Amino acid sequence: MSDPVRVLTTLAKALSAMGLYTPGHPAREKALDVAYEELSSLQGRDPYAQFSFLGDEVVYGQSALREMGAWDWGRKLAAAGVQRLEFVDVVSREEYGEFLADLLARMAPAPGAPGASTAEARHARRQGIRFGAIGIRGEGAPAPTEAPRLERAAGAVAYDLGDEADAVRWMHDEVATRGELPLMEAEAVVRSLAVAMHGDSQMVLPLVHMKEFDQYTTTHSLNVSVLTMALAEHLALPARDVRAFGVAGLLHDLGKVRIPKEILVKPGKLDEQERAVMQRHPVDGARIIIASDKNLDLAAVVAYEHHIMLDGGGYPKPHFGRCCHHASELVHVCDVYDALRTHRPYRAAWESAKALGYIEERAGTEFEPKVATAFVEMVRSWDERVATAEGTLAKTEQS
Ligand SMILES: [Fe+2]
Ligand SMILES: [Fe+2]
Repeated sequence: MSDPVRVLTTLAKALSAMGLYTPGHPAREKALDVAYEELSSLQGRDPYAQFSFLGDEVVYGQSALREMGAWDWGRKLAAAGVQRLEFVDVVSREEYGEFLADLLARMAPAPGAPGASTAEARHARRQGIRFGAIGIRGEGAPAPTEAPRLERAAGAVAYDLGDEADAVRWMHDEVATRGELPLMEAEAVVRSLAVAMHGDSQMVLPLVHMKEFDQYTTTHSLNVSVLTMALAEHLALPARDVRAFGVAGLLHDLGKVRIPKEILVKPGKLDEQERAVMQRHPVDGARIIIASDKNLDLAAVVAYEHHIMLDGGGYPKPHFGRCCHHASELVHVCDVYDALRTHRPYRAAWESAKALGYIEERAGTEFEPKVATAFVEMVRSWDERVATAEGTLAKTEQS
């Protein structure tokens, strides 16, 4: 059994013992000792151990713990609002004990007590331990009416993406105020989107609809991430690339946190100076990403290249002609499609068919032709399924 697996199994045993015995009981203290020993030994090797629990998946750092597939406690933790667990400093036994007691309280709240809200959970921090939720709302927490939603055929609401949107907004705030990218949060959002995407084979167009203009950057990031992953899958890329492209899609406009709000939400046309500020976001984004984590070089490349056209147009201007990374080609198409489909202060949202026509027309000049064709084909098949589903729905309503 590997160290991280032992940490989790002893954590679960300690939680069980804590559910059965009162503080100070030898059986409870013994289970805590064992759990703490395992954690200390793991922290000796990996002081910043990170776990995520999502669906049937338990992830340690970057890799799924296969032997923990369908681990019951993973699901329980996730359902209690703990989908990620992150050790950021050496933890004392006392701190670990308190943390586990807290977990237990979240999993079995006192009757009548409201479930912990996600935002509260996300920001709950001990010195050495952070934990929080992605994608699952604590029981009892009312769903905000403005929460963006994933929709499927015929407009039926499939998923509430309020938590992912919160997470992205929080991530942008962190970058804007502290200059640090909370990578774990970003990866958890992408994992959660991937799960939502595959959660229902009937789901057709998993796009988030914007309710207010200031949600633009958030909803746009989520949409580009989902579209990029769907396109990568459509192109039969390996699963690892699909996720990595999804992270790149989520972070492609990160540099916009440096753009003053007046320019970002300006209703009219930008003047030359404002446009220059706007066009700095690819370079700024790439810098922020690379400064946060060197392993995110793909996301940094995509942030840098996502406005560069196939024929060299766009921005930033490359110093010499070169091809963009395949991930940038995918994100570029998805970015333009989502932007066109969105209502902006200066123009109405385009119909899907019109946006697809635009992409087709510019395949070979702005867009890499194979990527553009695959994208158009994929979205058309979704649109057809939506139309069929709507037709069926209308007939059922009539009869
Ligand atoms: Fe952009
Ligand atoms: Fe964008």
